[in-house]
Amino acid sequence: MDWKEEYKRKISDAETAIKDIRDGDCLVLGHAAAVPRIVPHAMAEHCEDYNDVLIFHMTTLGDNELLHPRCFGHFRHVSNFLSSNSRDAVNHLEGDFFPAYFHDVPSMIGDEIPCDIAVFQATPPNENGYCSLGVSCDYAIASIRRARSVIIETNELMPFTYGNTMIHVSQIDHIIPCAYHLPELNSDAPSEVEQAIGKHCASLITDGATLQLGIGAIPNAVLSELADKNDLGIHSEMFSDGVVELMQKGIINGSRKTMHRGKVVATFIMGSRKLYDFVDNNPDIELYPVDYTNDPIIIAQQYRMTSINSCLEVDLMGQVASETIGIRQYSGIGGQIDFVRGASMAREGKSIIAMPSTAAGGTISRIQPFLTHGSAVSTTRNDVNYLVTEYGIARLKGRTLKHRAEDLISIAHPNFRPMLIEEYERRFQCKWDISL
Ligand code: COA
Repeated sequence: MDWKEEYKRKISDAETAIKDIRDGDCLVLGHAAAVPRIVPHAMAEHCEDYNDVLIFHMTTLGDNELLHPRCFGHFRHVSNFLSSNSRDAVNHLEGDFFPAYFHDVPSMIGDEIPCDIAVFQATPPNENGYCSLGVSCDYAIASIRRARSVIIETNELMPFTYGNTMIHVSQIDHIIPCAYHLPELNSDAPSEVEQAIGKHCASLITDGATLQLGIGAIPNAVLSELADKNDLGIHSEMFSDGVVELMQKGIINGSRKTMHRGKVVATFIMGSRKLYDFVDNNPDIELYPVDYTNDPIIIAQQYRMTSINSCLEVDLMGQVASETIGIRQYSGIGGQIDFVRGASMAREGKSIIAMPSTAAGGTISRIQPFLTHGSAVSTTRNDVNYLVTEYGIARLKGRTLKHRAEDLISIAHPNFRPMLIEEYERRFQCKWDISL
């Protein structure tokens, strides 16, 4: 059948599409800035019609109506990455957290993560009947292949991206044409502390490196310090606005990448409207499913692969907690360990964990003798390589426990060094005689 006929036949509205959802189903929802809006709204409006529907999602940018209290009792949430709009619901009775490496999620869809219904967003079809998944590729194709019913909001304002982002009209059950702006993530200008961290990280980045950067102010501060570098590349889980200027200046050109030479590669994109316009129909940008971008074996093939991620707390052995504060789940592991390991295995690779030395307005040291009781270790002491704060760089790889403690104390906030030195002297039965 001509795809155009099929397209017309499949055009639906949200009210009709959600009739496919049965009690007890598991629904997998699109990710980050590509989270669908119309179907969740209809589901929330009709939440009384549903019982025990499980929703798997990761970060959902903007307002996720399925997390509103009126939906509690009808929908349960399972997530392996929390953000401000899902943290409370998932940490409490309405949901549960699902520890998993991001790169494993596609292979778990249809198995450990059942997928009866897939609800995603894409562009309207091109001349051959293919829709692009736009700014979020990650676990969409795996879900679309497995679901009993595939519901796609085809958004005219979704950027068309290349790589492995195409789904064909024939793979969709309900097509919901729409036009709405994607939610934006606008980062504040980096603070003095973040800028200092950015400078230290930049000093570790060499010409020709391929970078992975996480989310937030620190990655943007790092990028703003790279003006004098050459031939950088990007192979990342995600990227945001900071890369645009460096691409326009030719500093990020991917010319020395081992794989996908000349291309910026990621699995999702989150940022401002300016970023979304930049990636639209841009052949320099390629998105792939997360089981490819975040596969440590793929990452390891990039020459000078350099990963930069952040964390919440580090203990004196170099154990890194990035996703929990005590037993409270704050975010998730995302691609942190995927990239730490991939970068460590790469030729001339480096992995960097960067964080401000304190939290909670300077009242808590992020370098502690012990992790907060109940915290999960995200990056183990065996995996950790460089740790950076605004006070400097500690290279922990290859260092003994005693030397690690010394290096970490030297980059801790001065207000907390006496407390850490006290623990050091107790633990190693020696006097602290290093001048800081
Ligand atoms: N003890 C108590 N509170 C702490 C704390 C600690 N050790 N560390 C941080 N906090 C508080 C902060 O004060 C802040 O509180 P506020 O919201 O009231 O200001 C909050 O926790 C968040 O800390 P912050 O450092 O500002 O978080 P962030 O938004 O910069 O995110 C991570 C940092 C580590 C949570 C985030 O990078 C993450 O989830 N990383 C893991 C996943 C990953 O690395 N993915 C990589 C690929 S994208």
